[in-house]
Amino acid sequence: MGREKSIMTGTPLLIVILAAGKGTRMRSSLPKVLHPVAGRSLLGHVIAAAQGASAARIAVVVGPGMEDVRKESAAQAPGAEVFVQEDQRGTADALLAARPALAAHTGNVVVLFGDTPLMTPATIAAAEANLAQADIVVVGFHAGDPTGYGRVLTDASGAVTAIREHKDASEAERQVRFCNSGVMGFRSARMLEVLDAIGNANAKGEFYLTDAVEIGRAKGLTVSAVSTDERETQGVNDRAQLAGVEADWQARKRLDVMAGGASLIAPDTVYFSHDTVIGQDVTIEPFVVFGPGVTVGDNVIIRAFTHMVGIDRKIKSGAKIGDGVELGPFSRLRPGADLGKGVHVGNFVEVKNAVLEAGAKANHLTYLGDARVGAGANIGAGTITCNYDGFNKHHTDIGAGAFIGSNSALVAPVKIGDGAIIGAGTVVAKDVAADALAVTRAPHDERPGWAAKFRAMMAKRKK
Ligand code: UD1
Ligand code: CA
Repeated sequence: MGREKSIMTGTPLLIVILAAGKGTRMRSSLPKVLHPVAGRSLLGHVIAAAQGASAARIAVVVGPGMEDVRKESAAQAPGAEVFVQEDQRGTADALLAARPALAAHTGNVVVLFGDTPLMTPATIAAAEANLAQADIVVVGFHAGDPTGYGRVLTDASGAVTAIREHKDASEAERQVRFCNSGVMGFRSARMLEVLDAIGNANAKGEFYLTDAVEIGRAKGLTVSAVSTDERETQGVNDRAQLAGVEADWQARKRLDVMAGGASLIAPDTVYFSHDTVIGQDVTIEPFVVFGPGVTVGDNVIIRAFTHMVGIDRKIKSGAKIGDGVELGPFSRLRPGADLGKGVHVGNFVEVKNAVLEAGAKANHLTYLGDARVGAGANIGAGTITCNYDGFNKHHTDIGAGAFIGSNSALVAPVKIGDGAIIGAGTVVAKDVAADALAVTRAPHDERPGWAAKFRAMMAKRKK
């Protein structure tokens, strides 16, 4: 889990993520921190930021009975310790639920909220760097509308004196627009002493972590503040805020992808996943969706309305789109699609758990599932791999250079040799040898003049 010692201060960093909130305003059976942004849970984003900031140890504070949050934490950070806060008595109480981790730690501690997924490793590192001079650091931001946030109060010299929660603030204090993001850092030496001194005599009757500032100062500790962009501090309390965070995440990712050498003709219509990898000189047309686990090579064109999902619960390897691939419009890639160099996949073609080797083409109206398509093979319009018998999935193997005529059904398990030709409309239920022709068409039966005679007879009968 990252380096042992932080590059910023040379001491090990413990990051504690507070995630015990149920998130009742989400109106969901799913705990709030498990709702996804860009295909990854809110908690997963926060853990990734903690890992990006080279935390030596990560602790996650969850609510009672949140087994699935515990599992998500273990999946994202196997070494993270999980603590349970029995009652939701405020952010200081939540942090103290991780007391064993705090007591065992001798470096710096940074506290993050599990519902604030846009916080960057750079901001965490900036907070940590400040702990070289101060005992406590607060990450603040200049709020467009500060309503509801804790205000970071300063004295005439600019030193941070307190954080006042909105509900407890005076009219004058409410005029302050520099707000607490929720991210705070502490040198561990006197941290527990400060946290244990926090009471709950306030508007909400909660143990506020923010009171650490005033209490710390009274004990002679120094407090400093760093500032970050308001967009990073957005929290998720309801579904509208979830959509807002998703929009900001996507905006950030689109800029990254373009900076990496891809052209997005209509960036606002393209949706990425947290792990999407895009190469150079890639063109992405409007209305394209990337689900989790998709990797795109160089010189690829992805035409409009293409939908790609690279991994799911069963298939973990991820979809690969090789160099020079042409995709879409209206293509669908599902988990395990692996498109080699220069492959063409066209309109209304679905690919699942299938390898298309270099130069293979499936340009129209096709389903390729549980298959290998050899290099340079041509798959005609309307070809279907019949991979499922209602009980099990079976494999189709198509050799290099094979030609599959339009509207063919390949009944798996079946193997078509290199260079074989399958006539249009064939139902292939037996293996076909290399370079053979296979056709299962009924013989062509033609009766000259029959149609004209038939029409004449019918017309006479109708009179
Ligand atoms: C908090 C800050 C406020 C800041 C704002 C930024 C405090 C007292 N206030 O207010 O200064 O401007 O965030 O968004 O810290 N949690 C627990 N257990 C609890 C209470 C909270 O785990 O008993 C977790 C929540 O799940 C959440 C986080 O702590 O992830 C913040 O709690 P919340 O109640 O949302 O704090 P705010 O009122 O938003
Ligand atoms: Ca909040």
